[in-house]
Amino acid sequence: MGSELIYRGSETQPSSDSYSPKPVKPWASVTRTIHYLLREQRLLFVFVGIAIATLIFTVFPTSRAPYVAPHSRFTTLIPDSITYFPIETQQKFSSAHRLGFGSANPTSKIPLGLKRKGLRIVVTGGAGFVGSHLVDRLIARGDSVIVVDNFFTGRKQNVMHHFGNPNFELIRHDVVEPLLLEVDQIYHLACPASPVHYKFNPVKTIISFILLQNLITGLAKRVGARFLLTSTSEVYGDPLQHPQKETYWGNVNPIGVRSCYDEGKRTAETLTMDYHRGAGVEVRIARIFNTYGPRMCIDDGRVVSNFVAQAIRKEPLTVYGDGKQTRSFQYVSDLVEGLMRLMEGEHTGPFNLGNPGEFTMLELAEVVQETIDPNAKIEFRPNTEDDPHKRKPDISRAKELLGWEPKVSLRKGLPLMVSDFRQRIFGDHKEGSNTNNASSS
Ligand SMILES: NC(=O)c1ccc[n+]([C@@H]2O[C@H](COP(=O)([O-])OP(=O)(O)OC[C@H]3O[C@@H](n4cnc5c(N)ncnc54)[C@H](O)[C@@H]3O)[C@@H](O)[C@H]2O)c1
Repeated sequence: MGSELIYRGSETQPSSDSYSPKPVKPWASVTRTIHYLLREQRLLFVFVGIAIATLIFTVFPTSRAPYVAPHSRFTTLIPDSITYFPIETQQKFSSAHRLGFGSANPTSKIPLGLKRKGLRIVVTGGAGFVGSHLVDRLIARGDSVIVVDNFFTGRKQNVMHHFGNPNFELIRHDVVEPLLLEVDQIYHLACPASPVHYKFNPVKTIISFILLQNLITGLAKRVGARFLLTSTSEVYGDPLQHPQKETYWGNVNPIGVRSCYDEGKRTAETLTMDYHRGAGVEVRIARIFNTYGPRMCIDDGRVVSNFVAQAIRKEPLTVYGDGKQTRSFQYVSDLVEGLMRLMEGEHTGPFNLGNPGEFTMLELAEVVQETIDPNAKIEFRPNTEDDPHKRKPDISRAKELLGWEPKVSLRKGLPLMVSDFRQRIFGDHKEGSNTNNASSS
């Protein structure tokens, strides 16, 4: 008995004179492979195979390139497989899915057999004047458009010709509230744009610019969509530089009655650029100069719509001040073209989008007389506070980088809005409706 440990392994220990195999040579398999390759010209065949494969991948490099599905922010489709790419990776590819004119990446090819799809685009303020024309162009291009509008100044009538089109959706929503949608692009136009409307509730006007962050985080930052801000020539205030270049920082009264709009748009530009720099959001900024055309709000205090409506109603044309202050007037189709080029292009901006033709208010009144009623009278009224003396865009940057310039002169464009105004003014009177005249109350 005892706690004796018995070593049983000794029984299996080989004796010193038993068989031991040759030590394995580590290079033996390599030399065997080399000998094998050198025999019967096998190496030559390997080189020929490599050469053929290199040739094929050089001649057809895009035939297997990944294709980014335009609608999806979350998946990247390869013809015979589906791969998940995180948002950061998609953003690197983002140019590949912008398929409209001026496509950002003309070299990206779509695999044979796959049709180009339209984009999914949000237009805030899409039931308004400019927004509804933009929606028409995007739908015509084959995109799917979601209009977000609270109908403060916009009208369903502006977009109702798209009702029933599966590529069109309309959401009644105030953009100061958060909104989550999966889209590729956001054109942000929602904003009371005329003095009558933005002065109606100036606190709400300025706050809505600050709450722009809801829109950018909910729509653009979250899904990596491109965000275009429609800013304004009002950021130049009463300019001391003429014509105004994008590099000019402006001369804005920060405490005047127009400041809720002017400073609001400046704040919106700041927020947009800070999201771009800080969070990598893809942004575009357009500084829009006076624009006119069909579907403008009637009697909203903007000079072109005022004069046209007054001339049609046989009322005197009201000129504020001495009528020598100047503005430039851009037809709406030119603006829409510029906005789309900016969105599709590679440059953040800001870009001036306006017609450099410069008119005094009296000259504009004369064109309205020529176009609508040569007997229309002119009536002078005291000028409004902080009315800028001069406005004229320098559009060299847009010409050079977007290949854009306006095509429609004032004398050509003005007649194009007259029949729309006539029909709405007399139609409105017949129906006793006042939907377009919210500002005049
Ligand atoms: N038309 C111009 O001459 C001009 C010049 C400079 C800048 N802009 C800018 O272009 C954009 C469009 O201007 P427009 O002339 O078409 O004006 P508009 O008043 O016809 O359109 C603005 C649209 O935004 C909607 N909207 C306003 N506030 C909203 C809110 N909080 N939530 C949701 N929808 C809201 C309105 O209902 C309307 O449909 C505006 O941002 C404006 O500041 C226009």
